[in-house]
Amino acid sequence: MATRTQSRTSNRSRTSSGNRSSNNGRSSDSGSSSNRSSQDRSAFSWGDNAAPIIGAALAGAAIGFAANYGRKFLMQGMEAAAGDWDEMLAAEHDMALAIFDKMLATDQTQTFKRKMLLMKLTHALDKHSHQEEMVVYPALREANETADADHLESEHGYIKTFIYELNEMGPDASNWLEKVREFRQLVAEHAHMEEEQVFPRFKQDMDEEQNARITSLVNRDGFWMA
Ligand SMILES: [Fe+2]
Ligand SMILES: [Fe+2]
Repeated sequence: MATRTQSRTSNRSRTSSGNRSSNNGRSSDSGSSSNRSSQDRSAFSWGDNAAPIIGAALAGAAIGFAANYGRKFLMQGMEAAAGDWDEMLAAEHDMALAIFDKMLATDQTQTFKRKMLLMKLTHALDKHSHQEEMVVYPALREANETADADHLESEHGYIKTFIYELNEMGPDASNWLEKVREFRQLVAEHAHMEEEQVFPRFKQDMDEEQNARITSLVNRDGFWMA
């Protein structure tokens, strides 16, 4: 502790007595920095040449961060264009069912394709169920539709169980297609119940403002999960 305090104090005194730029790790190495003894250097000193590297790393991170945000805006923007919350969720059901169809069109030798499709499906279902579990089902319970919300949420648990089982059995298992078919059936029935019974009734019971609020919350949650 004392060492750290001393080090901080000596840095501060150097900074106040000398040229600030000479002590902050930038490339110009004039003035007091040339008088630094090796003891002055911290074990974590990056040296004077590290600044461009750190700068490049930060710039890279910033670009990656911006690209990720761009991707999220694009993905969620496309979904938001689909309309209200129930239409967005129905579009996601169709997307998930389309992935199932691609999985069902594979054979036992296409293990890489099967793995990739399962990853894609897992991500799509994760995002989708998060939006429903964090926004729609709680709103349903608030509107006294608890039984439906609980039933649907418990089915999400079985959806995760299918993903677990498919990962465990591996893409070359002889019963892989059978398991995917069973899984698709559950998702199709679940989506049907949401689209045909629960969501239309719930939407009808809300006014325009309440519906817009749910749409905005689903959008926001989807953005972070995208
Ligand atoms: Fe659901
Ligand atoms: Fe759903």
